[in-house]
Amino acid sequence: IRKVAVMTSGGDSPGMNAAIRSVVRSCAYYKLECVGVYRGYQGMIESDIVPMSARDVHHIIQKGGTVLKSARSKEFRTIEGRKKAYESLKEHKVDALVVIGGDGSFTGGMIFSQEFNFPVIGIPGTIDNDIFGTDYTLGYDTALNTAMEVIDKIRDTASSHNRLFFVEVMGRDSGFIALNTGIGAGAEEILIPEENMGLERLLESLEKSRRSGKSSSLVVVAEGDKTGANVFELADYVEKNLPQYDVRVSVLGHMQRGGSPSCFDRVLASRMGVKAIELLLDSQSNKMVGVQNNEMVAVDLENAVKEHHKISKEILRISDIMSV
Ligand code: F6P
Repeated sequence: IRKVAVMTSGGDSPGMNAAIRSVVRSCAYYKLECVGVYRGYQGMIESDIVPMSARDVHHIIQKGGTVLKSARSKEFRTIEGRKKAYESLKEHKVDALVVIGGDGSFTGGMIFSQEFNFPVIGIPGTIDNDIFGTDYTLGYDTALNTAMEVIDKIRDTASSHNRLFFVEVMGRDSGFIALNTGIGAGAEEILIPEENMGLERLLESLEKSRRSGKSSSLVVVAEGDKTGANVFELADYVEKNLPQYDVRVSVLGHMQRGGSPSCFDRVLASRMGVKAIELLLDSQSNKMVGVQNNEMVAVDLENAVKEHHKISKEILRISDIMSV
């Protein structure tokens, strides 16, 4: 290969810029040309492609979001769209693609790679940490710290006013953020999509903690928690059944996706970018770069999109013990 394209796709996450920088600089190191594709697959279709040199990516390692912008493309879901995208890459003499994104972006990349026999490598970038084959995705560590700091602040009010707070964190299909920020911020209960605690048990547990003398309570709820109720319905239900509680709701939302990446995410992004280019130089394709037990690994994209990263039983057990 001689020329590599890099792009970001799907929801942004802190650390994407650090990964772009690493891909661009690894190309420079190995004397490959590099181009950046703006706005993910849509930009590829529209040939929104610019050359990128090592100097073009200075001072972006500390920035949140993505300088290459991100988008979801309906057109890329069609064979006509993918053909246009392939022609744009050929026009720019690109021979390999690095996609920084989540499972939807990887599925698109895999189909594209198989249809046009085009080398594609994925770098997992999402705050959800839900990608199979890697212990950590880019942005997850930063999002955890952002959410935990805010929950700590909410605890101040909860404790000053003896209140019960329901705090909703992101994770439509994944409880990683809820479970880990919940443990980190000392939440009384944590509701996640992977486990159904049931409303009755929630009431029992809150009642127990009130009787045990706790002055405030925090329940961290993942966006897609299994009870099926949204965070406001949950709060109403608890307020009706446990009138002793003064209940409030806080939805953290997109603040969790922004901000300067943590040192962990910057270093991980740098490692993943280097590994992506080294895999391409080793003639590998249709792989995702992952980190397992602190070693960089290559995982088949097919496996990465087929399954979800599972929450460990051990961490669930810790959250149970901590809420005693
Ligand atoms: O996948 C990342 C994520 O932030 C999820 O946690 C959340 O459910 C979703 O994206 C929100 O997506 P959007 O920004 O499109 O509303």
